[in-house]
Amino acid sequence: MGPVVFVAGARPNLMKIAPILRATAARGMRDVLVHTGQHYDHEMSGVFFEQLGIREPDVHLRVGSASHGVQTGRIMASFEEWLVTIARPAGVVVVGDVNSTMACALVASKLRIPVAHVEAGLRSFDRAMPEEINRLVTDAIADLLLVSEPAGIANLAREGVPAERVKYVGNVMIDSLVNAREAARALPVPAPRGTYAVVTLHRPSNVDDPARLRELCAWVTRLAAAMPTVFPVHPRTERKLVELGLRAELEAQAGLQLAPPQGYQEFLALMDGARVVVSDSGGIQEETSFLGVPCITLRTTTERPVTITSGTNTLVGDDLDAAWRVIEDVLAGRGKRGGPIDGWDGRAAERVVEELARAWT
Ligand code: UD1
Repeated sequence: MGPVVFVAGARPNLMKIAPILRATAARGMRDVLVHTGQHYDHEMSGVFFEQLGIREPDVHLRVGSASHGVQTGRIMASFEEWLVTIARPAGVVVVGDVNSTMACALVASKLRIPVAHVEAGLRSFDRAMPEEINRLVTDAIADLLLVSEPAGIANLAREGVPAERVKYVGNVMIDSLVNAREAARALPVPAPRGTYAVVTLHRPSNVDDPARLRELCAWVTRLAAAMPTVFPVHPRTERKLVELGLRAELEAQAGLQLAPPQGYQEFLALMDGARVVVSDSGGIQEETSFLGVPCITLRTTTERPVTITSGTNTLVGDDLDAAWRVIEDVLAGRGKRGGPIDGWDGRAAERVVEELARAWT
């Protein structure tokens, strides 16, 4: 049998793939790492390889940015061209919900190569989110569905996925966090621990509509007046802020510090020391839940409901007054603290590799 092929493409894939590759190495499993190049800047990709200790990819497809159709198509064409040169791969492992995840799962499945999906079963039930389409397609064709939170099991059962294909392994992203937390604690943070806010925004639903982005910027300005606030800016958001003339306005605000996208350790240090985190990210809902830091999610839905029921997350939808009420709770010392979540223990990657070995070797 040939090697197991692992796919990484965009920033949020990297903290998931890193612990899995450590676990394959520990087990002596033959693997090949493919980077699609969906993200390519040093600050969106390279720095994560360095800090998470991910080895140089064995193959780099260099697809870059484009519209969804073009980007997905390019990934599929390049990945297929390369995959057919590999002698009898044991299977292809994709993680998360980015375009690279879906594109590579489709290619492998059409070549009749088994596909495993790490972080299977998450559903926001909002098909306006590109990630929801990626999740639905990937799970519909995956042979092995490795689930990170309880909702995933229920969702896949409801969709009729046979139970023997579904395994609860826990959250590999938390493995990376557990591994890096101590080193991150040694890094400087912008204000004393427990006194400042961290903001990130990058979803099209928040940053592509000028009216919504203006409203969010006004809210962030209000937040910065209440506590020191750091805002690492995703490249998509950066472009929109500049276009609308909002960047200069934000930069002039006392208490607000705009920053470039952060490295893994730097961002973990920021979250770990924060009083509150405000974001529209998927993964940050999970990381703050594990860290016990209150998180306000500026979205109408979440595919990660355990972060609300057992973690520190509050979903506020479009309602910025509701978001402000959470800030008031935090200021009054009533922020959510959260509790333990099954399988978010730093050992999920070992369970992933155990399942791969059982299914494919
Ligand atoms: C992608 C994922 C999203 C994830 C996010 C994290 C999909 C559908 N979306 O969204 O789930 O939360 O990554 O960042 O896969 N750009 C750069 N440098 C880079 C990469 C991108 O400047 O290295 C800019 C480009 O202008 C690009 C834009 O960011 O057009 C968006 O990148 P893209 O990969 O299309 O989607 P993200 O918004 O990053």
